[in-house]
Amino acid sequence: MKINLKIKRFNPETDKKPHWETYAVEVEPTDRVLDALHDVKWNQDGTLALRRSCAHGVCGSDAMRINGRNMLACKVLIQNIAKDGDTITVEPILGLPVVKDLIVDMEPFFAHYRAVMPYLVNNDPLPANGRERLQSPADRERYDDTTKCILCAACTTSCPSFWARGEYVGPAAIVQAHRFIFDSRDQAAQQRLEILSAQDGVWRCRTAFNCTEACPRGIQVTKAIGEVKEALRTGVIR
Ligand code: SF4
Ligand code: F3S
Ligand code: FES
Repeated sequence: MKINLKIKRFNPETDKKPHWETYAVEVEPTDRVLDALHDVKWNQDGTLALRRSCAHGVCGSDAMRINGRNMLACKVLIQNIAKDGDTITVEPILGLPVVKDLIVDMEPFFAHYRAVMPYLVNNDPLPANGRERLQSPADRERYDDTTKCILCAACTTSCPSFWARGEYVGPAAIVQAHRFIFDSRDQAAQQRLEILSAQDGVWRCRTAFNCTEACPRGIQVTKAIGEVKEALRTGVIR
């Protein structure tokens, strides 16, 4: 089948503002949007800049706005979003500075991630077996959903609160904090909750749900945020 890829282009070295360019691409219905972008880059216009690594939905590097919604280009099948002759629009994710074309500067996003202590804190000596801090299956289950995050930024860059104020820590960082706050082996939950109770912390979330809809890993992002809010309200970590 034939589709048109309408791509938002911007080269800060030569352009004053972004513009759209459209490319006709021959694809299989089961190709991914990433395959179509590769066709453009490899066969039509080598100046197109995009970021991708694994091409299999694991690394989180190719989040982009496809037909107005955040998705991973390597996970979206053309047949699920277009028919023969259709035009698919592709833009960089919103709310982060564009470096070139579809590539954004992820540093502000990762600064929010680092701010929530996204690592296990446990200062007790290792247990007698010398190797593992054991945990029951139920305790492990408590934060299972948020372990699936691949830091693609699809959630944070679809959030209206983040668009309005880039200082908002954003759903991805809260998901990362959740993963450790509710880990029974961790000892820094209160510190993380304190960080998230700040002005640009979790209370900036207005329950818009865009984050949950955008997450390519199917994480219940809004639910996780709600659990963090509840822990802050009650002082109890359940
Ligand atoms: Fe991506 Fe989902 Fe993690 Fe957000 S929660 S960064 S959308 S994987
Ligand atoms: Fe934003 Fe998600 Fe909250 S979209 S407002 S972080 S529910
Ligand atoms: Fe790794 Fe798409 S290229 S998630």
